Amino acid sequence: MFRFVPPEGAKQPATLSIVEAANRTARHWTSVEAGPLAPGSAAHKRAICAMFQETFNPYRPSVIAWPTLSPDELRRLQSLPIWDIAVQTEGRARLSFAAYADGLEDQAFRRAIMLNAWEEHRHKEVLGHLVRTYGIELAEEPPYLPPRDREFAFLVTGYSESIDSFFAFGLFDLAKQASFFPAELVETFEPVIQEECRHILFFANWLAWHRANLNWWRRIRFELRVAVAWVYIAGLRVGLARSVGTNRKTTREESNFTVNGAQAVTSVEVGFFDLIKICLQENDRRLAGYDSRLCRPTRIPALARCVVAVGKLWPGKKRNNGSGISASG
Ligand SMILES: [Fe+2]
Ligand SMILES: [Fe+2]
Repeated sequence: MFRFVPPEGAKQPATLSIVEAANRTARHWTSVEAGPLAPGSAAHKRAICAMFQETFNPYRPSVIAWPTLSPDELRRLQSLPIWDIAVQTEGRARLSFAAYADGLEDQAFRRAIMLNAWEEHRHKEVLGHLVRTYGIELAEEPPYLPPRDREFAFLVTGYSESIDSFFAFGLFDLAKQASFFPAELVETFEPVIQEECRHILFFANWLAWHRANLNWWRRIRFELRVAVAWVYIAGLRVGLARSVGTNRKTTREESNFTVNGAQAVTSVEVGFFDLIKICLQENDRRLAGYDSRLCRPTRIPALARCVVAVGKLWPGKKRNNGSGISASG
């Protein structure tokens, strides 16, 4: 099993000013490389890895000041249908990233992906503190086993994060607008959400770099694996694959995560197309601060734009209150 060794930046004292400076850097980063960053080039690789190391945020899960909740807020938080899947997703993600990094000879990518694994481990710690603080009951966690096919697990985890983060950006913004939970509690997750943004930016750039460095027959093999990864993810999402280390309860939660999430973080009814629009806006906003020469995740946003375009043709009722959220009856 892998040891999740903290990076140097996490060994420094995480004072408020250091964490605030890291928060700013994590949103505004430009590479020192001159000229365009051609995908697959040495400069592209240096920029990807530098982005990942230099935007590291040293926040500490153990010193988070969890706010006191009112009985209603506590009940709402405890009944959110996301905690099991969130904890288990982080548990599996850290292992997938660590396993893939462990098999790499390229030291720069190895260090960056190992840091990604450590950050997933830290997300799990944040959730662990929250669960203990607010008395949230979790199902028993499954054993976390290292993947047999490291590259495939890495692809599945990277693409899954790209989907989950896209929706998390929108749901997080809804939670901020709705005042359904205290602002201090919502803000606790801001570094985690921005960290996921950084992860999917890294993954999109690793994909572009990796593809550009494959010869034609390796490229065909890789694209076939990517296609299989998407089919596998689709299977998980519709609940067809029920034996991937999760129990039945978790699998049901996973397939309904976004719908449940939107209903659970806000008291106003959010139309599906409005939710997608918020996700797109937040996706663009969160990624805007990183060097524009780096590649961006494109697949999920492109799909979302198609959905919004189709939605405009939909003759459904429109009750928009101006904030992009439909007010409930
Ligand atoms: Fe995570
Ligand atoms: Fe992540």
